[in-house]
Amino acid sequence: MEDFDESRLHALVGKMLGDLGGAYGVPTTRIGFRLGLFEALQEGGPATAAQLAARAGGLAERYVREWALAQAANGYLSYDGDADSFSLSPEQAMIFAVKDSPVYLEGAFDLAAAMIEGEPKVEHGFRTGEGVAWGESAGCLFCAVGAFFRPGYLNNVVANWLPALDGVTDKLRAGGKVADIGCGVGFSTLLMADAFPESEFVGYDFHAPSIAEANAHARAHGVGDRVRFETAAAKDIAERDFDLVTAFDCLHDMGDPRGCARHVRGMIATGGAWMIVEPIAADRPADNMGNPVSRLYYNASTMICVPTSLAQEVGEALGAQAGEAAITGVLNDAGFAHVRRAAEGPFNMILEARA
Ligand SMILES: C[S@@+](CC[C@H](N)C(=O)[O-])C[C@H]1O[C@@H](n2cnc3c(N)ncnc32)[C@H](O)[C@@H]1O
Repeated sequence: MEDFDESRLHALVGKMLGDLGGAYGVPTTRIGFRLGLFEALQEGGPATAAQLAARAGGLAERYVREWALAQAANGYLSYDGDADSFSLSPEQAMIFAVKDSPVYLEGAFDLAAAMIEGEPKVEHGFRTGEGVAWGESAGCLFCAVGAFFRPGYLNNVVANWLPALDGVTDKLRAGGKVADIGCGVGFSTLLMADAFPESEFVGYDFHAPSIAEANAHARAHGVGDRVRFETAAAKDIAERDFDLVTAFDCLHDMGDPRGCARHVRGMIATGGAWMIVEPIAADRPADNMGNPVSRLYYNASTMICVPTSLAQEVGEALGAQAGEAAITGVLNDAGFAHVRRAAEGPFNMILEARA
């Protein structure tokens, strides 16, 4: 064995224990979400394992006890050793029980599982250079992605991001036409439609099962024919004259983002705008190191974004951490002369592009 620094090794092993604890917690935490254990604890207050098992609909107490101790060890539940009971602090509840909170993380855990499911196909891609088509790497990658982004969109799109664009909310209040390209299961489209009842919305995505799910969400929302979803690759959208085009966390996933940008340029009405929501990142990879959000995105990009782009024509594979300069370059080359960062959040940067 080579010489090594004992204290640096201890620090790295300590970090690895924390990281592996997070990874080992993925299946138990997902079971807790699916069986409603976090919600039951939140709604009914502190409970012993037996009480929690009964409250969650008659689950097996021995499993629930081990699960609750695991979650307490994770720091996801609080444990009172004297009373042998479990509870959720308000902060833990925001992450594990309150579905509309900006930091509700069920989708993030589902995404971790989807990435593990997709491992053999992505590994094959490493050997061959081939891509893995969207929807082929894991059974419900698209549902997990929708759930992952939903809390951020719900708490930001209408309240912060659209108002940061020049004159867009006035237009949508009066009645405008919006295309949401790469809309996935349609959460972004529907929450904009809810906020702007005078406007018309079309969500487009090339993944038919996502569009089927988006249509089911639309029916549940009761938005009528003001909102529709269509299966179409970004460059094949025939409709024109949109006052606003949106692209939520999808431009970098496309095989041909430059071709898409040129096409969007033709879809926009005079005076209209394109809102591009992309994962936030610094321009230089070195400046993304040590940042926990970049860490998540680089891993997701390896398993999802790069393979899905490589599976398409051109296969530019910008990656989730392309950065503002690279995305702006794509937009400028397509004829969007005016591009600015209109807003940002911990996970996203919001660019406004105009011709
Ligand atoms: C990371 S997901 C984001 C989905 C959704 N916008 C959201 O934020 O939840 C990327 C989406 O881009 C779609 N997509 C990728 N390439 C596409 C293309 N060339 N044309 C249309 N949609 C595409 C995928 O089907 C997927 O729904």
